Amino acid sequence: MAKQIKTIGVMTSGGDSPGMNAAIRAVARACSYYKVKCIGFYRGYQGMIEKDYCEMTARSVRNIISAGGTILKSARSDEFRTKEGREKAAHNLKEIGVDAMILIGGDGTFKGGKIFSEEYDIPVIGVPGTIDNDIAGTNFTIGYDTALNTVVEAIDKIRDTASSHDRLFFVEVMGRDAGFIALNSGVGAGAEEILIPEEDLGLDRLLESLKRSKRSGKSSSIVVVSEGDKTGKNVYELADYVTANLPDYDVRVTVLGHMQRGGSPSCFDRTLASRLCVKAVELLLDGEQNVMVGLVNNKIIATNFEEGLKEDHSINRELLRISDILSV
Ligand code: F6P
Repeated sequence: MAKQIKTIGVMTSGGDSPGMNAAIRAVARACSYYKVKCIGFYRGYQGMIEKDYCEMTARSVRNIISAGGTILKSARSDEFRTKEGREKAAHNLKEIGVDAMILIGGDGTFKGGKIFSEEYDIPVIGVPGTIDNDIAGTNFTIGYDTALNTVVEAIDKIRDTASSHDRLFFVEVMGRDAGFIALNSGVGAGAEEILIPEEDLGLDRLLESLKRSKRSGKSSSIVVVSEGDKTGKNVYELADYVTANLPDYDVRVTVLGHMQRGGSPSCFDRTLASRLCVKAVELLLDGEQNVMVGLVNNKIIATNFEEGLKEDHSINRELLRISDILSV
């Protein structure tokens, strides 16, 4: 029989994402509702290793639903990658009396959680929080929607200058290994071309597309480039390459960077975070463990870590086709 859960720990780990605070709030409030103690660990796994924690009550998470970042702070812990680090963390949880953990983060966080749950008898539930949307067990991760809106808003502004000065802008967006942000913001912002890590469309195609644009009478263009795109050139090298091959273009580069991770979460991300985290608490209380929660076809479901971490991120290739048609 599953052991009774009296205290649940929560932490945020990896790159922060808008909506992590809404998630922390939902964990603390659901714990309070079900009369379970809630402990928040600072800086993800590192806080578990260093015993850096605080007790969280329904009131201690007041007014954070709209705030970006994470009040529990975040980190990528090298120490937790070691057996000794994980042992310290497990020892500390036992000592503090934490019976189960809710881990809010991306694939790195889930990988750590999977190993930890295999090594120690401490139930864990993963909640997908990353702007990258690169977790297979959910249609959406917390923060992705807000990041998309931030990117589209930024590109709309860049377009004003592109259009006023008849320029071509390369806009680099986040996504080291995943092109979700580039693809969706690219279509949403009406980009000429979208370069993503999942698909190498080749430099010739880029040049052809830009030539075609000029011929069709376009005076300005936006190319959205994912950090991890497969052309083999970074965004500055791409700009140089186009300038060298198409001297008629006046080319500029904008790297959006970490502004994509900040800001007040969208309503979608707040609601998603709330739904996922109430479910995470309920699953733990029902004796479930070592799974992640996700939104699939508008239902909150649990998926084992293995499935959730599968590399197939199912990029929607339909969007590439749509982008091609619409950039005519
Ligand atoms: O995983 C989220 C993410 O924002 C990626 O899109 C990006 O490549 C990476 O984190 C940047 O990490 P850091 O903040 O450590 O530079």
